[in-house]
Order: sequence, then structure tokens, then C-alpha cells
Amino acid sequence: MTGKEHLNYDTFETTFARSQKLEQNLEKNPGKYKMLTGDRPTGRLHIGHLFGSLLNRVRLHKLGVPTFIVIADYQVLTDRDVFKNISENVRQLTIDYLACGIDPARGNTYIFPHSYVPELNQLLLPFLTLVTNAELDRNPTVKEEIAASGQKRINAGMYTYPVHQAADILFCKANVVPVGKDQLPHLELARTIARRFNDRFANNKPVFPEPQPLLSQAPVILGLDGSQKMSKSRNNAIMLSADEDETARLIKKAKTDSERVVTYDPQNRPEVSNLLLLASLATGRRPEEIAEEIGDGGASKLKKLLTESLNEYLKPLREKRKELENNLDYIREVLNAGVAAARAEAVKTLEEVREVMDMKL
Ligand code: TRP
Repeated sequence: MTGKEHLNYDTFETTFARSQKLEQNLEKNPGKYKMLTGDRPTGRLHIGHLFGSLLNRVRLHKLGVPTFIVIADYQVLTDRDVFKNISENVRQLTIDYLACGIDPARGNTYIFPHSYVPELNQLLLPFLTLVTNAELDRNPTVKEEIAASGQKRINAGMYTYPVHQAADILFCKANVVPVGKDQLPHLELARTIARRFNDRFANNKPVFPEPQPLLSQAPVILGLDGSQKMSKSRNNAIMLSADEDETARLIKKAKTDSERVVTYDPQNRPEVSNLLLLASLATGRRPEEIAEEIGDGGASKLKKLLTESLNEYLKPLREKRKELENNLDYIREVLNAGVAAARAEAVKTLEEVREVMDMKL
């Protein structure tokens, strides 16, 4: 590959500034955009997902931005020896999306597992020829996942899934991808693949747009241990599907510190501040204001307030969730319609790809 084609990672500041500009344009002109996001079906979602990314997607969805949500079932196979319950997880993930406010009835809204969209998967083959092994080796997120997996034998899917993810994004020509920081290397790769594909095969009429990452403005939600990101596997999460009693129990056990007076100080008091942040997200009040109100009421008063406000906030979502769990026919319908629409897009794109690559019969 020549120098001009190098895969360069922008600084976080550059990406963030660009993302803010994109945010403004989205609000002015939602119809010019197409959003694609996705998750791995590894389990149910928790309030860290809700406040960190789901609400951001729902906001764009409600602005009228066409919404594609890919459930990346093949990606589950990259770092796990044990894979089970994938279809159950796909259903639960779909239920979580719908309960949070993604509504296919708005139109232009599709949820689908990528394993059901053969023409999307086929794009992986030409895309693999547009990147080098060395580039795939250098992906910082993949490197971290390899380290975290603790596995000695890493399968080739681990190195190549970011290329497949480019197909997830480009098959429908999405131009906005709401993601967290850890996904930025994958987005940069998708942009590079789009650019290289257009340069090599489609000089006069580019087939793919360069998709832009949209970073959520929401702060990172720590787990109830207050020391690391909220995550189901770290056992420090409150699931959206948890009931009120379970939520109360989990908050009761949350770590705090020994200072009596509650103050909002994320640097020096991460545990207490994270609880204040959650209470703030659930009430719409500023964390400092809540801290002041509690004052020397201490951690127990804070936990009581958080439990009540979070349960109150999640109530409609949880009711919707229950309803959906009892209506799996509807969930299947949503997924089938999502697959059909995604396939129609993928067929069109693959046809264009064949055309410019001179592979038509
Ligand atoms: N890699 C993403 C994650 O682990 C999931 C994902 C798959 C995705 N395909 C995507 C995210 C396309 C955004 C766009 O969370």
C-alpha cells in the first residue's frame, strides 16, 4: 500500500471535535443521515449501556434518522470457547432495544442479526483484500481483547472481525455510527476500507460513504464497585431486566467510602460520585445539588434516594420489557422484518460492488 493509503488513527480530540460538529448537523438535517449501530448478543443490557449509549441512539432515532441496528452474532465467536444461548441473547437484546424506545413502527428502523444477511457477509471477501495483516495486527482494541480473553490460541476471526464490522456498516451505506471510544479503531478501519474500495474500483462514482463515528456525550458509568466500568461479567451491573427489589439489594451492597458527608468529587471519591451520577441521570438534577441535599445523611441516605429514583425512572421501561417478553411473536416479527430490509439493502450494494469490480456475468 502506498503512503497516501495509510491507516491513520486520529487523535481523540480531533475525533471528538468532528463528532460534535456532526451532532449539530444531525439536528438540523436528520434526513441526510443513516445510522448504524450494533452490539454483540452476549447477554442482557444494563443501566451502563442505557445511560452510556442506548439513550443516545434513541435520541437520534426520535429525530427521524433512519436506524439500522446490527446484532453481531458472528462476533461472539471471536473470543469465546464457550458460546451458548445466542438465539436467546438475540431476543433479549431486541427486547432491551424496544423497551428503551427504539420503535420499528416509526418506519426506517431495522434490527437484525448479521448472520441472516448473506450479501452483507459476502462483502467481507473483497474487503479482506483491502487491508494488510500488519494493519489487523496493530488494532489496539483487538490487542486488548486478546489480552483480556486469557486464551492461548486466538482464532483468525479475532483479527478479522473488524473487517467484517466494516461490512456491517458499509452494506447499507451508513454514514453515522454512534459508538464508544473502544470502537474508534474499527471505525477508522471501515473508513479506510471505504476509501480504498472507492479508489481502487470506483474512481468515478464512489460506492461507499466514509462513515463517521458519533461519540456519546454521556460520561462513563462505573459499576457498583466504583472502580471499573459497569459490566455484567464483572458482576457490578444493574440489568434493565432486574426488578425493584433486586435493584435495591444491589445498590445496598454498592461500595462507598468512610466519609460521612456526601460530596460530588469524581477524582477523589469515585464510588460515591458514581452513585450521585446515577441519581442525577435518573432525576435530571445536578449531582452536586443531590449531594448537597443529602449532606451528612451519609451513604445510606444516598442509596435510598438512588434506589427510589432509579426504580421510578426505570418503571415504564421495565413494564414495557415485561410486556415484550410475553410477546415473542412480535419480537420474531421485528427481527424478520429487519432481516428482510437489511437483505434488500445488501443485495443492492453487492450488485453495485460486482458492477464496479467487473464481476458481472
Ligand atoms: N464491536 C461492537 C461491540 O463489541 C459490536 C458491533 C458489531 C458494532 N458491528 C458493529 C458496533 C457495527 C457498531 C457498528 O460492541
